[in-house]
Amino acid sequence: MHQSQQTHNYQPFVAIMLVCLIFFILVYSNLFLDHKDRQPNGSKRVLVTGAAGFIGFHLSLQLTKTSASIIVAMDNFNDYYDVQLKIDRAYELHKAGVKVYYADLCDLAFIEKLFAAYNFTHVIHLGAQAGVRYSLENPLAYVHSNIEGTQVILDTVKKYPNIHLTYASSSSVYGKNSPIPFHLNADTDHPGNMYAATKRANELMAYQHCTSTGIKSVGLRFFTVYGPWGRPDMAVYKFAQSIVEGKKVPMFKVSGDEELGRDFTYIDDIIAGILSTMDYNPDCCGVVFNLGFGHSVSVPELITILEEELGQNAELDLLPLPPTEILQTWADISVSRQHLGFKPVTALQDGVRKFIEWFTQYHQLRDKLQKSGQMSAAQQWYNELVQKTTTVHNASDWKSA
Ligand SMILES: NC(=O)c1ccc[n+]([C@@H]2O[C@H](COP(=O)([O-])OP(=O)(O)OC[C@H]3O[C@@H](n4cnc5c(N)ncnc54)[C@H](O)[C@@H]3O)[C@@H](O)[C@H]2O)c1
Repeated sequence: MHQSQQTHNYQPFVAIMLVCLIFFILVYSNLFLDHKDRQPNGSKRVLVTGAAGFIGFHLSLQLTKTSASIIVAMDNFNDYYDVQLKIDRAYELHKAGVKVYYADLCDLAFIEKLFAAYNFTHVIHLGAQAGVRYSLENPLAYVHSNIEGTQVILDTVKKYPNIHLTYASSSSVYGKNSPIPFHLNADTDHPGNMYAATKRANELMAYQHCTSTGIKSVGLRFFTVYGPWGRPDMAVYKFAQSIVEGKKVPMFKVSGDEELGRDFTYIDDIIAGILSTMDYNPDCCGVVFNLGFGHSVSVPELITILEEELGQNAELDLLPLPPTEILQTWADISVSRQHLGFKPVTALQDGVRKFIEWFTQYHQLRDKLQKSGQMSAAQQWYNELVQKTTTVHNASDWKSA
């Protein structure tokens, strides 16, 4: 009699605990997921890191046109180049139904929660500190985003062994003495700059991760990607901007008859290449592919094309070639063609034309908005995004406290 009375007294306490637990689970999961985002198993749930960046933006947008059921985009919107461009890209993604998060790759607690909330089937890791020249100025930024950030992704993926992982490497891993076209077997042990060193390190980290966990991944060595929504720090954008503004075009001059050449690759071809890796299952550790057009074009030739498409002449500012620069890049894409069916189709002149169309329109819109003095819808959305993310961060701090 006495015993049964005691048991009876615990019941309200257990019930309250259960209600609290259910309430907590609902609140916690809703910080990350809208109701419509909870999906049954079987469909693709994709995380794209660095999605406010040039390639991540195009990839995420293209994924909305595929059978992928959830596309989650994250980026720290760093100010390495024009942050407004990143905000405008991310706003386009938001409008297309992509879930966008403002977060740093190195925020392990946040990344873990993101993975737990969405149960990703695919992770496409493009977030990185890009740029060859800036790596001389600020090498630590490369260690932070490219080394630490990638390790956070690898450590988290380890807990979800069925996730398919694709990550960005770079043509920069090839050395100055690698014979052209760059074959996958060419020398990658002599990086010319810190950016290249961290990208090669990523390949080695992915290899080591695979040998210790059995989780395979696909690394992609991209070659000078260009196109609409491109990067202002890269040649096509930078040169176009200088020509339009009537400024001198900074061009590296090589001594003698040699000329600087790049394997310029149009963004749509790169996106097709990345998408093809999503259904590719590597049979060993350390798999990497070259994604380039498979042809090298001299930089003076690029300037001629830009002049034609803009209808304006370029005045050159000839500069000595810095020691960080490779003279010529040129991808051997035979292995990518064989294993991924990779077949780039966009000729440089056509790609530059599409870039110029976007460039002209985008800058006209921005100028108009600036003159009006109004805050853009994209900026308003971004301010709310930052605010919302801060709330999630605070909630996570509170939870772990
Ligand atoms: N564009 C090219 O020609 C090219 C060539 C070779 C390799 N790649 C590689 O492809 C990937 C995408 O390049 P991109 O041209 O789109 O560059 P990008 O700079 O436009 O995009 C990278 C994005 O990552 C974000 N980012 C950086 N550090 C971060 C961090 N710690 N946390 C969260 N986000 C972070 C940046 O804000 C940026 O939006 C990068 O890994 C780059 O190294 C690009």
